[in-house]
Amino acid sequence: MKIALVLGTRPEIIKLAPIINKLGKKNSDVIFTGQHYDYEMSLQFFNQLKIRKPDHSLQISRSEPAIQIGEMLTKLPAIFNQIKPDTVLVQGDTNTVLAASMAALKCGIPISHVEAGLRSFDWRMPEEHNRIITDHISELLFAPTLVSKKNLLSEKVHGKIFVTGNTVIDAINIFADMSAQKAKLEIDFTDFVLLTLHRAENVDDKKTLTSIINAVIESGQNFVFPLHPRTKQKLKLYGLYEKFVKSKNIKLIKPVGYFEMLELMKRCLFIVTDSGGIQEESTSPKINKKVVVVRKSTDRPEAVKAGFSRITGLSYSKILTAIKEAARNPTLPRKTSPYGKGNTSEQIIKLIHKNI
Ligand code: UD1
Ligand code: UDP
Repeated sequence: MKIALVLGTRPEIIKLAPIINKLGKKNSDVIFTGQHYDYEMSLQFFNQLKIRKPDHSLQISRSEPAIQIGEMLTKLPAIFNQIKPDTVLVQGDTNTVLAASMAALKCGIPISHVEAGLRSFDWRMPEEHNRIITDHISELLFAPTLVSKKNLLSEKVHGKIFVTGNTVIDAINIFADMSAQKAKLEIDFTDFVLLTLHRAENVDDKKTLTSIINAVIESGQNFVFPLHPRTKQKLKLYGLYEKFVKSKNIKLIKPVGYFEMLELMKRCLFIVTDSGGIQEESTSPKINKKVVVVRKSTDRPEAVKAGFSRITGLSYSKILTAIKEAARNPTLPRKTSPYGKGNTSEQIIKLIHKNI
């Protein structure tokens, strides 16, 4: 059995680390598309999470998504033809996932989709396009929860569906206990809120980005903000970067490694984010944090139902109110995660061996 794993962005590296590290080099090939290319967004995670160097790396241009997808689609078949995998495994909903699954489909290789069935029902999101297409052309669909299985059933996908939990909980279980020793952090704030933003529909829109930034600054809370490169570009483009740099309650830092991120999540009062993965991670008993989700919708309704996340919408006043409310009462009782116990990667490997 040979599994070709295709990955290209920060969350794919983190969420596939537990699977790649369980599969030997003999049984798998790791193909990195280079969608994320800065050290802080890519190689840093291979190094920290002790993932072997990719067996194949694509050279793609730093251009717009359609061109990048086209380049991946053009380059992947030669690699697939060389390694002749029994399945191509992809994780999540990025442009890498879309390109790799379309390439696999046209090369006649069954697709295994990890984190299948998430839906925000928000067609503004490129991730919604990518995951719907990938789910419909996959043979094996690893849905994290019953909610995602239900989404897949209602769309009548043709592949086999398995509810497995999310590999992000495996990653936390593996890495969270070593993060205190390994993290290199210089944070002088004591009581701080962790902030991350990068969703295209948030940060590419000047009005929305301005509302979020103003609410964050006005809340008066101390924020630590590891800045995604997309967001940095947009803050500069819209003339908001200097305002942020000058505000005393925001500590802007580069995107951090996984150990640093785990420590920030553990030590913060609560989290303000539009990230998908962070909504899941906050539910791990090792993190257990409230999350103010600055979005109109979520593809992680399980975290809302379980009482971890609250969706604010995108108006300045609603975001500000939600931050103030979380600050007044940041603590959460200990709960179990709706995303599994941390044995998802093991289950997925077994299910692939049984069903391919
Ligand atoms: C992508 C995924 C998103 C995921 C996120 C994780 C898609 C459609 N989106 O969004 O689902 O949540 O990754 O972080 O695939 N850039 C750099 N350096 C890098 C990477 C990106 O400067 O290492 C800049 C480039 O200008 C690039 C822009 O960020 O054009 C956006 O990058 P891209 O990979 O297209 O999308 P993300 O916003 O990172
Ligand atoms: N993350 C990280 N460093 C950062 C920001 C995020 O290690 O500076 C981790 C985070 O803990 C999670 C993943 O990256 O595991 C989420 O990535 P992101 O928010 O970029 O993408 P999404 O999950 O929204 O697709």
